Amino acid sequence: MNHLKTGEIIGKKRKELGLTQNQLAKLLNISFQAVSKWENNTAYPDIEMLPKLAVALHMTVDGLLGYQAAAADYDKRYDDDEYYWGLAPNNICYDIIKCLPPVKQYRVLDMGCGEGKDAVFFAKCGYHVTAFDISQQGIEKAKKLAKHNEVHVNFFQADIIDYHPDNKYDIIFSSGVLHYIPQPKRKEFCDSLKSHTSDIGINALNVFVQKPFIPCAPDSTAKEESKELWHSGELFGYYHDWLFHTCQEEIFDCNSGNIPHKHCMNTLIAHKAMPKGID
Ligand SMILES: C[S@@+](CC[C@H](N)C(=O)[O-])C[C@H]1O[C@@H](n2cnc3c(N)ncnc32)[C@H](O)[C@@H]1O
Repeated sequence: MNHLKTGEIIGKKRKELGLTQNQLAKLLNISFQAVSKWENNTAYPDIEMLPKLAVALHMTVDGLLGYQAAAADYDKRYDDDEYYWGLAPNNICYDIIKCLPPVKQYRVLDMGCGEGKDAVFFAKCGYHVTAFDISQQGIEKAKKLAKHNEVHVNFFQADIIDYHPDNKYDIIFSSGVLHYIPQPKRKEFCDSLKSHTSDIGINALNVFVQKPFIPCAPDSTAKEESKELWHSGELFGYYHDWLFHTCQEEIFDCNSGNIPHKHCMNTLIAHKAMPKGID
């Protein structure tokens, strides 16, 4: 869960948007002192002000109040001794190993690692792994899994929407998570991943794709239902300037939540096209 108070969230978002307290106040027709009081947590915005404030800060009212629906939803799913997604790594992990075998401690970033099965698998193979998820419950189980397997993974809780890599990675990986990135932010997000990839590195990503003939998964979150799924081919477009190792669309059966259903997924493994003479 996000532990920031509403005032801190307002201040953080305002600064991210490059607004002064005065500019935000003008957008809302209030005094800058009111904004200052919110940010110092000495007063809360009026309930009636919340929708307007959320629009001005490009966020939802839930987000403004520090409530992350996805985190709450996944905390519930992961609140069990069993591993919701099982313990076997995603198939894409084996393709990643073929592309960049762990001949040295390559740095892997797993975004939205869930209960950590893939991150722990990579660590067992000899990679240096950093992994995060929005669900604190997922992170706790992931840490337990790493301990059980006697490997170290740098696990932490973070929201992919606010996350900016602090480092370059050799492998940037994410499976089944990127529909939580709002569509208008996706190009910028992929550009940031590309620029945080080392010269020999790869990005390995898969995304759930909308198909009119595939009904919404029965255990899908509100976000998934609200059609944040990707368009077929959208992911490949953002990587048009990279070399593709894997570029595929598949429909597969899934039994998550113990209810059989189908998903459509686009999978991309791509690496930078180096200038002639360097590769
Ligand atoms: C379908 S699961 C995939 C988990 C894991 N990657 C796997 O393949 O087993 C989606 C994951 O995305 C996480 N998630 C949802 N919204 C997120 C966000 N805004 N930031 C980071 N993780 C998020 C959920 O907590 C959940 O663990």
